Amino acid sequence: MQFAARTEWGTAADGWATALEQLRTAGRSLLDLTASNPTTAGLLYEENAILAALSNSDAMQYDPDPAGILSARQSIAAYHAESANISVDPKHLLLTASTSEAYSFLFRLLCNSGEEVLIPAPGYPLFDVLAALDDVRLKPYPLFYDHGWHIDDAALTAAITPRTRAIVVVHPNNPTGHFTAPRKRATLEALCREHSLSLIVDEVFLDYAVEAPAERSFAAAPHRCVTFILSGLSKIAGLPQMKCAWMAVCGAEGERDRALERLSVIADSYLSVSSPVQHALPVLLASRFAIQQQIRARVAENLRLLDGAIGRAPAVSRLMVAAGWNAVLRVPALEPVESLAIRLMQQQNVMVHPGSFYGFSGDGWLVVSLLTLPEIFREGVERIALYFA
Ligand SMILES: Cc1ncc(COP(=O)(O)O)c(C=O)c1O
Repeated sequence: MQFAARTEWGTAADGWATALEQLRTAGRSLLDLTASNPTTAGLLYEENAILAALSNSDAMQYDPDPAGILSARQSIAAYHAESANISVDPKHLLLTASTSEAYSFLFRLLCNSGEEVLIPAPGYPLFDVLAALDDVRLKPYPLFYDHGWHIDDAALTAAITPRTRAIVVVHPNNPTGHFTAPRKRATLEALCREHSLSLIVDEVFLDYAVEAPAERSFAAAPHRCVTFILSGLSKIAGLPQMKCAWMAVCGAEGERDRALERLSVIADSYLSVSSPVQHALPVLLASRFAIQQQIRARVAENLRLLDGAIGRAPAVSRLMVAAGWNAVLRVPALEPVESLAIRLMQQQNVMVHPGSFYGFSGDGWLVVSLLTLPEIFREGVERIALYFA
């Protein structure tokens, strides 16, 4: 048997993952401050309503629509109208099984083999395998921190080549949590127009403003370039297992409709969103209010615990959490950050992500999940503070 070169991603685990595996094999119980799965975070779901909606008898009839059934798309349009007073035509929405799948559809829509997509760094390490599977080259563009996170405009422009096809913006970004300001949106759109690029905007955390005012969705008109806006149940309703996400396609009518036509053929080849989930979507989306309220309370409580703990360790500070479920810690860069994260596991029994996982440049960045159960979080951040005190 011979394998395709695109699957040559190797099996060697990095140092942090290997150390974690060794400690777990040795039976060590660790305080996990990297937990990001909402379904195991002690949240109270509207379980009866969710399960009842999944047994809607309409789902027994298979009546596939590549974009997703109309009632499902109407409920997503209603979500945009309710949450941000933005009008999205259900005709311009397309369902996918996950945001990851939406990325994959877009990579195939926009890029020939070897063409490039620009992604933010730091950012969520979601894209590498997806891009490899779709034969797309990812090129990071740097963000820098100066009283908040910013795109380095000059570096972004310099990263564009004749092979570039799209710019990805994560709004708010994960794990930095910053929103893309309206002024910056105009700059991005101008760049896209100038170089005939598309804008891909990942808004999975848009509803989770924390220490900054919420910003508007890129779904709000006007659109000065073709823009694909991605979101899904995974974060909006804390339901990653339901496998339902969507994209809104915006831009000038002609280009937008041509993109939708081609996306519809891609989606038709898979028809990957199950009928029960599509029929249940209005109820699944309505369940977001209870979950978002609990997640906001959890994030606020953990931030309070974090501030209390690092208040006793002057060498440690945290960056503002404009939005999202993660906090970025600034710690002394006395050793490679991965070694530091391993030492925290070995000596303090605390699991945190080294900033290198997310493409932070330089050492001294750690990322902790604010979704962690507070009793674990409190103990974990106390130990981090103790380590540096
Ligand atoms: C910014 C961002 N986009 C997308 C995803 C994946 O979402 P999905 O579960 O819909 O594939 C994640 C997962 O954490 C994420 O952080």
